[in-house]
Amino acid sequence: MNKNTLKQFDLQKQICVITGGAGFLGVQHAEALLDGNGRVVLIDVNQARLQEKVVQLKKGYPRRVWGYQLDITDEAAVKKVVNKIEKEVRPIGVLINNAANNPQVGQGQKDFSRLELFPKDVWQKDFDVGVTGAFLMSKYIGPLMAERGVGVILNVASDLGVIAPDQRLYKKDGLKASQQPVKPITYSVTKHALIGLTKYLATYWADMGVRVNSISPGGVYNNTPEDFVKKLTTLIPLGRMAQADEYKAAILFLCSDASSYMTGANLVIDGGRTCW
Ligand SMILES: NC(=O)c1ccc[n+]([C@@H]2O[C@H](COP(=O)([O-])OP(=O)(O)OC[C@H]3O[C@@H](n4cnc5c(N)ncnc54)[C@H](O)[C@@H]3O)[C@@H](O)[C@H]2O)c1
Repeated sequence: MNKNTLKQFDLQKQICVITGGAGFLGVQHAEALLDGNGRVVLIDVNQARLQEKVVQLKKGYPRRVWGYQLDITDEAAVKKVVNKIEKEVRPIGVLINNAANNPQVGQGQKDFSRLELFPKDVWQKDFDVGVTGAFLMSKYIGPLMAERGVGVILNVASDLGVIAPDQRLYKKDGLKASQQPVKPITYSVTKHALIGLTKYLATYWADMGVRVNSISPGGVYNNTPEDFVKKLTTLIPLGRMAQADEYKAAILFLCSDASSYMTGANLVIDGGRTCW
């Protein structure tokens, strides 16, 4: 029998966990899943912002939103909170590994973005959140999904998980080459690692009903300085940055049965940037 196409996007009240759920895009992902008839659990290390976003989302979607404060780099805490969600909410059907550090270029008192100066502890912290956090969440949620024979994991990578940063974008007039700020090494390398993690997990659980994919969004406009937007958009065939809500339909597609024949893939949505 033919399935109704739109019904394939229906999450059927499944519990969807989003790490970094109180962040800029986390809330967009939450709205997409709620629009698709999902139930959403926001996970974030920032308690105040988490509280605020849960209250905000509950207004539009009453009795369908929960929040748990959690540092996803703390293995014991991840194990505890996953058990709590399964008991207090319901079994988890969808996991979005969305949390990441976003090391800003040229900010802070001292710019250490260049590779030669980049501190090992910052490298480690960026990996802890962006890669180890996704590994730990998958380590504790994936097996529960596999046991039940159904589940979806989505890793949020970036266009910089596919290409190297174009360091010309960050160039400042009047500075020597050795002093020019750059997009830090960790952003690109952690995002490439997430795409690797996606392929590993997809094949690991392929015969257990758990699908694992990643998405590579391009830069989203968020009060971005005009001169930067001007330079960046010359590298994007569509000639602009993304609006914050332009990934929502793709998020719902990837988390629902609409993408039932897709696993181990990376969906690039970047205005065409990686074509050039
Ligand atoms: N915003 C963009 O333009 C863009 C573009 C491409 C990819 N992305 C990716 O999308 C994702 C979301 O980006 P965003 O712009 O919403 O970032 P954001 O900084 O607004 O949100 C990240 C959230 O993660 C949380 N977090 C950080 N460390 C944590 C930890 N240890 N445990 C739990 N939560 C933690 C933060 O508190 C924050 O709320 C990131 O993976 C980012 O790399 C963003």
